[in-house]
Amino acid sequence: MYFRPGLHKEAGLSFSPIKAIISPRPIGWVSSRGKDGSVNLAPYSYFNAISELPPMVMFSSAPSGNGQHKDSLRNVIETEEFVVNVVSSDLCDAMNITSNGLAYGQNEFTAAGLDMAECHSVSVPRVAASPAALECKLWKVIELPKPEHNDASVMVIGIITGIHIADNVITDGKVDVTRYQPLARLGYMDYARVTDIFAMARPE
Ligand SMILES: Cc1cc2nc3c(=O)[nH]c(=O)nc-3n(C[C@H](O)[C@H](O)[C@H](O)COP(=O)(O)O)c2cc1C
Repeated sequence: MYFRPGLHKEAGLSFSPIKAIISPRPIGWVSSRGKDGSVNLAPYSYFNAISELPPMVMFSSAPSGNGQHKDSLRNVIETEEFVVNVVSSDLCDAMNITSNGLAYGQNEFTAAGLDMAECHSVSVPRVAASPAALECKLWKVIELPKPEHNDASVMVIGIITGIHIADNVITDGKVDVTRYQPLARLGYMDYARVTDIFAMARPE
């Protein structure tokens, strides 16, 4: 099978397969604060680490459909800070609740019954129950190419300025992902949890 992007239906596929092909994707659970002080939390799976030195991450915000930026993007543009919280398996339902498009200024921590914890290098709260969280300062906001009949997605790139790790997920000086089984996004409405890992030495 071969087709060009957007023509999956002509190829006999009900849905675009791109997200299923580029999977599993980590979920950046992004907390942010607006200039009015309001707090926001939402999951982004167009998310990844992009550099080790300096340590940097990105997430990409799709158009909201109402001509406004999504709340996370609006907040990051306003205050130039955000936090990426790790979604452990046991937080999957809470994560899903925070993807609900609440009105601007409504706190998804509260909606999902999550406690907030303070950060050090940013004024944004983190998810207290997350096994790890990355404090980030905005580096750049990049508007991606505008599609013909839609608004453009916007990529946010941040520099990591602080790292939180729960003591109980560290084994022998390493983060042990099997202790919290990070949730990953697949295609469609599917998710996976990391339960099985193996190590491989690099070739000399
Ligand atoms: C697992 C998951 C991953 C998501 N990834 C993205 C994404 O990468 N980009 C995006 O624009 N929306 C994504 N969404 C949808 C947003 O979370 C949703 O639009 C949310 O309401 C945005 O919240 P905000 O306006 O508070 O930022 C995702 C939703 C889920 C459940």
